[in-house]
Order: sequence, then C-alpha cells, then structure tokens
Amino acid sequence: METLIHPSTFNLQVSQPETPFLRACYRLPTDYTPVWFMRQAGRYMAEYRAIREKYTLLEICFHPELAAEVTLQPVRALGVDAAIIFADILLPLIPLGVGLDFAAGEGPVVGRPVRTMEDVAALKPIHAETDLSYVLEAIRIVRGELKDTPLIGFCGAPFTVASYMIEGGSSRDFLKTKTLMVSAPHIWHALMEKLTQTLADYLGAQIRAGAQAVQVFDSWVGALSPQDYEKFVLPYSARLLRSVAHYRVPVIHFGVNTATLLPLMKRAGGDVIGLDWRLPLDEGWALLGNDVAVQGNLDPTVLFAPLPEIKQRIEDVLRRANGRPGHIFNLGHGILQHTPVDHVKAAVDMVHEYGH
Ligand code: CP3
Repeated sequence: METLIHPSTFNLQVSQPETPFLRACYRLPTDYTPVWFMRQAGRYMAEYRAIREKYTLLEICFHPELAAEVTLQPVRALGVDAAIIFADILLPLIPLGVGLDFAAGEGPVVGRPVRTMEDVAALKPIHAETDLSYVLEAIRIVRGELKDTPLIGFCGAPFTVASYMIEGGSSRDFLKTKTLMVSAPHIWHALMEKLTQTLADYLGAQIRAGAQAVQVFDSWVGALSPQDYEKFVLPYSARLLRSVAHYRVPVIHFGVNTATLLPLMKRAGGDVIGLDWRLPLDEGWALLGNDVAVQGNLDPTVLFAPLPEIKQRIEDVLRRANGRPGHIFNLGHGILQHTPVDHVKAAVDMVHEYGH
C-alpha cells in the first residue's frame, strides 16, 4: 500500500495514530472528514470579544494563559478536529525591531518599514526560544489542556511577511513590494534570506514546544505571476518548508488566489496544500496530483447563507473530494468577522455527518 511507505507514516505510528486531522494530513483513511477553520478564534465569537474588551490583540498574544484560553474557545464551542495556536504571523516583526501595532479599523501598522539595504542590515537577529517565548509557552499550556485534538503551530511565509514589512501594513496592489523585488533584487534577496532564517527558527521552536502540525501562511502570494513566484519566492518558501521536515510533523502550505501557482507551491513543499474557493476542489487537487493532501475550500461568505444552502455547498466540496484520503475540510480563507457562530457550528456537524 502506497501510504505505508510514506516516510511520515513512521512518526504517525509512534505519536498520534488515531486523530482524523493528522491522519488526513498524511493521506491515511479516516472515519469522517476532519474540519477546522482558519481564524477560528476571533471576533465572530462572543467569548473572544469578552476577552478583547479587556485586552488588545497583542496583549492576548503576550500573555500565554490568555492566548491559550482563546485558542481553546473554538475547540469547546465548535467541536473542530484541530486547534490553532492564537498568535499572529506578524509577531516576529517585534523582535526584528521594525515595530508593530494593530490600529483599530486599519489592521497592522509597521513602525519602520524596510525598503533599503540599510533597513535590512538593521534587522535584529532573533531567537524564537527567547524573543517569542510567549508563543511557545502558550503552545505548552494548550497541549496540557487538550487530549485528542491536535494543535497547529504557524508562521507567515517569507513573501507575505516581507510584504507587510515593505508596505508598512496591508496593501491592495503590493506596489512597493513588487517594485523592490523587480527593481532592487539584491535588497529583496537579502530581506528574504533573513526572513527565511528567522521564520525557520520560529517554526522549529513551535514544534519543539509541542505543535503537532504547522501551517505556513502565504496569504497574499496570489498577487504574483508564476514566473515571479518561481524566481523570487519559491526558493525561500522551499527552504522554510523543508527546514522542519526532519521533525516529522505535517506541514500545511497555504495561499489565496493561487490557481495558477499550485504546481509551484507543491514544488516548494508541504504535506498539505491549501485550496481557496476560486477553483473547485477536484480541479485544484488534479492540478496538484495524488501525492499531496489538500485543505479547503469553502468560500467564507457561504457561512452567512441559510443553513440549507450551507449544507448544499459543503456537500458539493465533499462530493468533489470523493472520499479520497487526504482532505481536510476548511474555508478557503479565514472566518469573516460577523459570521454567525451557530452557522459555523452547524457546518462542523454537517462535515462530520456527511456520508453517515
Ligand atoms: O484562530 C486562528 O486562526 C489563530 C489566530 C491568527 C491570527 N492571525 C489572530 C488575529 C492567525 C492564524 C493569524 C494569521 C494572520 N495574521 C494572517 C494569515 C491568515 C490570513 O488571514 O490570511 C495574516 C495576513 C495576518 C495579519 C493580520 N493580523 C491582519 C491583516 C490583521 C487585521 C485584519 C483583521 O482581521 O482585523 C490581523 C489582526 C488579527 N490577528 C486578528 C486576529 C484574531 C483580528 C482580531 C482582533 O483584532 O482581535
């Protein structure tokens, strides 16, 4: 049987053989399709808003007990098959020394954007074990609380993190990022080099702290052509993804708007590749091939629809997966802020009940 000789299977047999999420990451059969949601902890939940009234987003991240509590909220409320540690892809920017804040209504703000060689040289070397110890401590606390639900660690991919550092915040067109990439490639490569090392160190530290799977978020990579992805991004993503291969925990490689990038993202690496909703799941999986698992791919706005419509859309995704081992149900991107919680819970139950 093909699955038995998959190298990751070895680890599965010694550590977590029976959880559907980890089995699906390794394309092993499961009794039902595992499901979790990106941004499953957040403002759509009253329990989260209650904590957010007292603390800022960064304060929650800095206090491991709070981060652990927020991580566990959706596990208790929804019955999802995986937890994701509550943190943010931009936390490493703080020890790197560029300054980070989350301004109300504006999203992330980077105090000192990185645009010159001097800016890159001024980035501080970081050591996750000390500089991001609060995330690692939150991971340890959550692992102590959870019995059968695996915990996912995560970081941003070099491109997506670089885009925030260069733009100074969120962007629509990534003008500054792409201009630097194309017009000053030596600066781009120097920045990507430092970021790749930093993120590899951070991701490895999360696994050593207890993360049982990791996801690399390259959320905005769909802004690039395949040619630019291959030249300016793939080598760094590949190095980051492969840097944790020896830990033998599954690695999920995620991006949005990636229909034209999927084969290259697969080449970069990951046991599981994220699929957004712009491509039907079966078509995306066909582009990737049989030797990789997939995660997705419901449109997050569908969760605002009446329950019968949600059910039809979920069944369509599951029909397209066709029971093939290696599908983790998720949205194509994160849960949106005003999503009705009862719809999210109903969606989890619908995924679990399908086929029974
Ligand atoms: O439940 C989980 O998924 C874990 C927590 C998590 C957060 N951020 C907390 C957060 C995760 C996995 C992230 C990843 C993240 N952060 C990404 C990649 C995922 C994606 O959505 O593509 C990106 C691009 C960021 C950067 C970021 N953080 C932005 C652009 C914003 C502002 C936009 C917004 O939604 O307000 C954030 C803030 C942020 N990070 C929130 C949460 C729950 C917003 C809620 C709050 O302010 O309390």
